Amino acid sequence: MENKPENSAVGGGRVFSGVQPTGNLHLGNYLGAIRNFVTLQEHYACLYCVVDLHAITVWQEPSVLARHTREVTAAFIACGIDPKNQIIFNQSAVSAHAELAWIFNCVARMGWLGRMTQFKDKAGKHQQNASVGLFAYPNLMAADILAYKSTHVPVGEDQKQHLELSRDIAQKFNKDFDVPDFFPLPEPLIQGPATRVMSLRDGTAKMSKSDKSDNSRINLTDDADLIVKKIRKAKTDPHPLPTNEEQAKDRPEADNLIGIFAALSNETRGQVITRFAGTSFADFKKELSDLAVSVLAPIGEEIARLMAAPDHVDEVLRAGAARADAIATPIMDDVKRIVGFIR
Ligand code: AMP
Ligand code: TRP
Repeated sequence: MENKPENSAVGGGRVFSGVQPTGNLHLGNYLGAIRNFVTLQEHYACLYCVVDLHAITVWQEPSVLARHTREVTAAFIACGIDPKNQIIFNQSAVSAHAELAWIFNCVARMGWLGRMTQFKDKAGKHQQNASVGLFAYPNLMAADILAYKSTHVPVGEDQKQHLELSRDIAQKFNKDFDVPDFFPLPEPLIQGPATRVMSLRDGTAKMSKSDKSDNSRINLTDDADLIVKKIRKAKTDPHPLPTNEEQAKDRPEADNLIGIFAALSNETRGQVITRFAGTSFADFKKELSDLAVSVLAPIGEEIARLMAAPDHVDEVLRAGAARADAIATPIMDDVKRIVGFIR
């Protein structure tokens, strides 16, 4: 990937990623995704999208959805994404997403979507009662990425399967309509020592916005006292910290806290293990708390400041949507011509 201006299409490389406005943005969202968005903006033209169309695949209270959309936007800015240089916007404000998603509904196969583990997890035993949107969710995600011919997609580990599906959809579209290389095959960027942050209450469950226990996650809006309390309460095992990576693997809670420490301190897991080998969890947690507070508390404060005067946030979204639309419109014109729609 090389640096390219905003309107350049395939060839230079364009970064796209999305975060759902479903509340409780947490440390996993930060370390698995948003933090990497910030790094990528140094070198690439990036679009960062608050995916409100994805959010409504499960019920969202309308007034709460609007607040959560502003909150994710504020978090993007508070974490260091520069809305002047990068494009921050909400998905429903650019019609290309829904239009291309429909076309992809007709490209992707039922069997492909039936294999998606996220659908199976979210729908659980009640698949017949899940929304059609929840089933078709990955097609919309492919549309998000490909409406801009994006080439690189920073996400957490849990999105890998969806990214593979996006590649399959791009490939099938190119083949069905005999337009080789029209859509690029987007590459996932799953980076850093914490691509799958686990619950603080259970090292075998993913840290999640929807976990009933607020102690299972550190929210980006938690203040310093709450961060310290949640780390103090975090589940551990009775042994001191492992002395090598092999030992850490069989101890999910220890492994998770080591990964979090490494990501927050910009070290490798190996470096953290070497530094804390044989230390008690009580001592390690004190250091982890200090580190987490130093990184996260200023972000929380900035989110609160931005949310207190949301006009700026709304203006960022409006300006971002106009810029995103200007990139997507010519691509969608080509798509419609390729499919055979009269223009
Ligand atoms: P979502 O909140 O589901 O929209 O996720 C937004 C981004 O955060 C996606 O790139 C996810 O892969 C990432 N993410 C969500 N939960 C975690 C987690 N526990 N660990 C690492 N990344 C995560
Ligand atoms: N499905 C992603 C998640 O829940 C969010 C998302 C929607 C996304 N569209 C995207 C991520 C496009 C990357 C690219 O985490």
